[in-house]
Amino acid sequence: MIDRYCVFGHPIGHSKSPTIHAAFAEQTGEHLEYTAIEAPLDDFAGAWRAFVAEGGRGANVTVPFKEAAFALCDTLSERARRAGAVNTLILGGNGLSDDFKVYGDTTDGVGLVRDLKRHEVRLAGARILVLGAGGAVRGVLEPLLAEAPSSVRIANRTAAKAEALADDFGDLGTIAGGGFETVGGGFDLVINGTSASLAGDLPPLPDALFAPGATAHDMMYGAAPTVFLRWAAERGARPVDGLGMLVEQAAESFFQWRGKRPDTAPVREALRRAL
Ligand code: ATR
Repeated sequence: MIDRYCVFGHPIGHSKSPTIHAAFAEQTGEHLEYTAIEAPLDDFAGAWRAFVAEGGRGANVTVPFKEAAFALCDTLSERARRAGAVNTLILGGNGLSDDFKVYGDTTDGVGLVRDLKRHEVRLAGARILVLGAGGAVRGVLEPLLAEAPSSVRIANRTAAKAEALADDFGDLGTIAGGGFETVGGGFDLVINGTSASLAGDLPPLPDALFAPGATAHDMMYGAAPTVFLRWAAERGARPVDGLGMLVEQAAESFFQWRGKRPDTAPVREALRRAL
């Protein structure tokens, strides 16, 4: 039976993951199948079990199943445990987990960090501002803090969520949270992890947000720059959208499943051309 992988989501029709993983498989000569599966909202565990019965070896997991995937794992990476969510499931027998046990990881944060490094963003000693305090932000904080920034500030529309998140990660570095009115300025890196861009909204931010040479990253991407990236570029920051993070998180999942690290550049460029 061919090794099968998939991405679970609901909806899942527009996922780029099948295209990305097909390109990785071709490039590395790995023989596998990768499909998109729309799991029922009330039975993610059942969808996973059915997939494993049909030769499933691992899966990516996207909205709204990352917490349900977390709940069914036998073993978790430290960053997944911190995130409370899983975007990569691995069936045992790969060295990370015993046969038929399920190992869960979250590769979004590593993907973000790799993409920032590819853009030569210096993270060690940096002053970082993260906008948003939902699942997307929780998923990247451990890898970001592991780069030893000088400080991380989380700002969110609902201040209490930012404060709670800062408390949860406070043992990993200097991190504080609050509302948008508390952000201050002079940041080397500002990461937009809110879904405000989807609505074409911009969080209320001061004009003097960026230090000289700063980078603005938006986890979202599209054919045109997001409202946040346009606003940031007008204030002198270098804009980086989320397409690179998407491809890097996929590459890390692929590496964990197959032990081979794909070259992300041609895949990213092809996706960019097709946006
Ligand atoms: P995700 O999994 O994408 O993180 P989420 O957990 O629903 O989704 O979190 C969405 C984030 O975007 C939250 O930080 C949310 O702010 P609240 O916690 O105050 O709800 C933020 N967000 C969504 N729409 C926004 C908007 N129009 N302006 C500012 N922040 C917004």
